[in-house]
Amino acid sequence: MDNSSDALKSKFLLDPEITFLNHGSYGSCPKPVFEVYQKYQTDLESHPIKFMQEDVYKLLEISRESLSHYVNCDKDDLIFVTNPTQAVGTVIHNILINSNDEVLSTNLEYGSCDRMWTYDADQKGYKYIQAEINLPIEDKETFLNQFWSYASDQTKYVFISQITSTTGMILPIPEIVAEAKKRGIKTIIDGAHVPAHIPLDIKELDPDYYTGALHKWLCCPKGSSFLYVKKEKQDGIQPMLKSWGWGEEYEKFKSSVQLHSPSRFINVFQWQGTNDMSTFFTVPEAIQFQEEHDWDSVRSRSINMVIEARNRINEITKLPKICPDNWLGQMATILFPIDDTVAFKKTLYNDYQIEMPVMRHIEHTAFRISIQGYNTQADIDHLINALEELI
Ligand SMILES: Cc1ncc(COP(=O)(O)O)c(C=O)c1O
Repeated sequence: MDNSSDALKSKFLLDPEITFLNHGSYGSCPKPVFEVYQKYQTDLESHPIKFMQEDVYKLLEISRESLSHYVNCDKDDLIFVTNPTQAVGTVIHNILINSNDEVLSTNLEYGSCDRMWTYDADQKGYKYIQAEINLPIEDKETFLNQFWSYASDQTKYVFISQITSTTGMILPIPEIVAEAKKRGIKTIIDGAHVPAHIPLDIKELDPDYYTGALHKWLCCPKGSSFLYVKKEKQDGIQPMLKSWGWGEEYEKFKSSVQLHSPSRFINVFQWQGTNDMSTFFTVPEAIQFQEEHDWDSVRSRSINMVIEARNRINEITKLPKICPDNWLGQMATILFPIDDTVAFKKTLYNDYQIEMPVMRHIEHTAFRISIQGYNTQADIDHLINALEELI
């Protein structure tokens, strides 16, 4: 199998006119996986009743089985959700917390999650504390000391990203989960960027709650993510939407509850009203696609390209790097000395056809590059030429 960037580029649906350096935002799906997705959609529309009443449950089981091997956990400890926002919202809906308690997080979290925590803390009167992490990151020890300096006896939960969104850094989550356990604090890990990006072994990590997106680095079609809940936290857990698998505990609903699995957790979550779940069913193919293309080597090639690109851009800007090289995976956020952030983004897209997120970072403009298997050295050269012209 030819796993070169050029060969992989032809396997993705991306517009070849665009230099696409933004896999991190929504991912992109390879053609063979997308074809499987469309096949499920055709099956659904050809036999809507049979598909929704029978096939869906079998296919969900197959996909959960496949994903559970991939992330190493019991297949009945995870459910499919549309996106990590939904997963984190569900966890927030279920946390047990008193008004003086605290949730410890950081200033590096994703905007939607930040909003949900802020609202919930406001409503229930607990504190959502965002540790101020100073950039540039010096080293793991400094980071961990900074983070834990915001903890107190009132800290009941830690909520933190394993790979940060805007800043694209891999945080030392195994160390945080281990320390939280020592302190009796429960952990909710936002691993939106993790599956197929860095190794994930849920049994070994042992968080209380974990979410990951499958449409990002695993390259499923959009709307595919999962929520893992540790067995002992599944007791009495409630979905935000109560539907046909829910209500066994209620006399009124008992006889009509549809039990498709021996697990209450699975039953109450897997049917949330009529929906096209075809993207969930592509998980086995997405895993297979990456296995067939020796994704370990594709990934390390991509990581090397990220590090090299950041070095080259740094030579032009002379601005500090926000973290050491070993905090990077397939993304890097890089400072750029230009004042008008909005005009810079527009110029990159309109004049150079470069797609990547551009943001304001403290007093600087910054952008995040993502390198996926389909990105070529020519993509990076094109970006660097553009930056040289614009600086
Ligand atoms: C760290 C992190 N958490 C959560 C999300 C949530 O994604 P969504 O808006 O699809 O729910 C993202 C999306 O990029 C993310 O980067």
